[in-house]
Parts: sequence; C-alpha cells; structure tokens
Amino acid sequence: MDPDGSTKIVLDQLPKGSFFENLDLVQRDGFWYRPRHLEAAIACYSWFDARDDDVILASSMKTGSNWLKALCFSIMQRHCGGDVGAKNEDLLARHHPSFHVRTLEVRVYTENPPPDLSGMQSPRLFHTHLPYSALPESIKKSKCKMVYITRNPKDTFVSMWHFFNTRRTPEQGSYPLEDAFESFCNGVFHFGPFFDHVLQYWNQSLKMPHKILFLKYEDLRRNPKDQVKRLASFLGKPFADEEEVEELIRNCSLERLKNLEVNKKGVDPWIDMPYSAYFRKGVVGDWENVLTPEMSQRLDQITSMKLEGSGLDLVQDATTCKKLKGSGLDLEHDATTCVKLERSGLDLVHDAVTIMNLEGSGSDLVHNEITCMKLEGRGPA
Ligand code: A3P
Repeated sequence: MDPDGSTKIVLDQLPKGSFFENLDLVQRDGFWYRPRHLEAAIACYSWFDARDDDVILASSMKTGSNWLKALCFSIMQRHCGGDVGAKNEDLLARHHPSFHVRTLEVRVYTENPPPDLSGMQSPRLFHTHLPYSALPESIKKSKCKMVYITRNPKDTFVSMWHFFNTRRTPEQGSYPLEDAFESFCNGVFHFGPFFDHVLQYWNQSLKMPHKILFLKYEDLRRNPKDQVKRLASFLGKPFADEEEVEELIRNCSLERLKNLEVNKKGVDPWIDMPYSAYFRKGVVGDWENVLTPEMSQRLDQITSMKLEGSGLDLVQDATTCKKLKGSGLDLEHDATTCVKLERSGLDLVHDAVTIMNLEGSGSDLVHNEITCMKLEGRGPA
C-alpha cells in the first residue's frame, strides 16, 4: 500500500489476471485481488484506526477462516457482551460467522462512504484476508492482537476449487481442475500467492509472538482442546473450566454450524454465495480424493521450495492424517473426539502410529498398553 495512505489507484494500469474463468483479478505489490477488494483494502488502509484492544483475525482463503471467526467470537462473547454480543446468547445460531466477524476488505470498506467504526464498543473483532504488507499501519503499530490461521496448501486448493464450483450451473459442471491448479500454483487467485501470504504472517509471528498467534487448521482439527485453550489465553480470556472449553468447541464444530438453519439457507450478500458453501467436509487430507499424483508432487515441491529455511511445516500434519487412513481411525469428522478421548486415558493417534511402525515386527505394544490400562481401571471396559 502507499506509504502516504493514498486511495488513488488506477486499476487499469495494474497487471491483470483471472481465476475460474470470469473472476477478474488485479495485481498490486505482488498480491492478487478482486478489483473491489483492492479498492476496499486501500480505503481500509486510509481509514481503519486500530485500537489496542482490537482483535484482528487473518487468513488466506479456505484455510478455516470461518471456524476461527466462530471460535474467537465465542471466546470473546463469554467475557464481553458489547459489540461482540450478549453473553449466553447463541448468536452463532442466528447468523453466519462472517456476520459477527466482518472482513475488513470484503464487508466493511466496500461501503461508500467508508463506515465510521469509532462508535463500536471495545473490544472489536474483525477479520481480513489482506497480506500483512497491505495492513493499515495502525494495525501494525497498535497493540492490537492478531490471530492467523493457515492450512496445508493441497487441502486449501481443493477446498477453494469446491467452493468456487458451487457458483457454477449443472450445465457448466466443475471448472477444469488443471486450470484452477495452475492458477493456484502461480498464486493467481484472491489474495494469492498463498505462500507469500503465509510467510509474511509466519515471519511476523516469530518476531512478535505476543502480537500474532499463528495457528494451523490441522492442529485445531487434531487437538481442538489444547489449541482453543491456547487461543483463549492469547486473547486474554482463559477458560475457567474444562466443561466450558468442551462446550465452546462443540458449538463451533463443523457439524453444528453446517446444520444450523441460518447456514443451510442463507446467502452471503457480499459475494453472492450460499452460506452452506462455507461448510463442506473439513477433512485433513481430502486433497487425495481430487489431486493427481503429479499435481500432488508438484505442489509438494513448490511447498518445500517456498518454505525452505522458514521453520514452517505445512505438510507434516497432512502426512500423519494420510498414515492414519486405512487404520480404521477417523479423527477428522468429530472435533470433539480428542476431548472425549482425553478423559479416557486412551491415545488413538499414538496407538495408530505405533501399530503402523510395528507392523510385521511381531511386537504388540499397543495391545499391551491397553491391557495395562484395563488392569489399572483407567482404560476402556
Ligand atoms: P473443506 O472445503 O476442506 O471442507 P474458510 O472458512 O476459510 O472459507 O475455509 C473453509 C474450509 O473450512 C472448508 O474446508 C470448510 O468445510 C472448513 N470449515 C468451516 N467451518 C468449519 C468448522 N467449524 N470446523 C472445521 N472446519 C470448518
């Protein structure tokens, strides 16, 4: 963005591209935007005045933004009331998460004239898809906290492909996977390139861990309880008891949100998409059902090249998930499984990995462990 905060841009002079055939994009400072999002981003840059107690969520597209919105909104609502919402009201049942946590460049600053947010009660909660480099200076300079969520790039791409396919008619059918994949690899999609986006926030989170919490979708999926506690502590709203965190995880689960009337029927007026399109499978490793081995290999190569030396690993979690496939375990469908198992003293993830490693060795450590647990009276009946 312009250092002087200028809102004057000449869209016609910017490099152009498109995603999914007819979604026009323009490139600015290395990132791709829908033209109206870029205009809004520039208005946001000029007008948004962050407060020290604001919370800004950030993400690339299709990495779990709405899950993060639901979780943070619920965590804040427990303590606050005010603009975040009245305590104890089931507000997620009334509106889609993006209504409660508005995206700055999609919902807030697309309004003309720009809205006056100064009357909002603190603490305010917003979301953005903007890269770190395009954030308003006030967000960077104030003490406001940020939470960034990312996801394995292969699942991100596949989620995106499904999402934009919901805009197409049955006659049109799915958009050619190869073309969408090419755009993704080249970074030509809304708020792309993916890796530049992720790395900007990753690097800032390393520099300022007190300001930016960096989360991975897979970690949240695998161990929601620990991750949600971590999130709440970061936001300065730790949980009082275990029941509370379990309930909050249940309330924000994909299964619940997907089945709420408001999300089954509504349409997102800002981008003209059914709300249901935001809640699909939520399966870690779903890319396996869509990508060819060549595509998978290519994206792996790009991922390791881009992330090399950064200390960030976005592939490990998906690999674990892949290993569990065929083991009879499916920990991805039930976000509360971890919570439930925690109490039983049983560790299915560890056991499954052990089984795989010991296969053919004649040793049965898992069985022995379960036997011990049974004898101790802490395991399954
Ligand atoms: P899939 O398409 O893989 O199912 P975003 O919110 O950034 O658009 O991301 C959408 C992805 O998050 C989709 O992934 C969607 O199903 C998943 N998702 C939405 N709500 C979720 C929730 N409460 N828990 C887990 N995953 C969720």
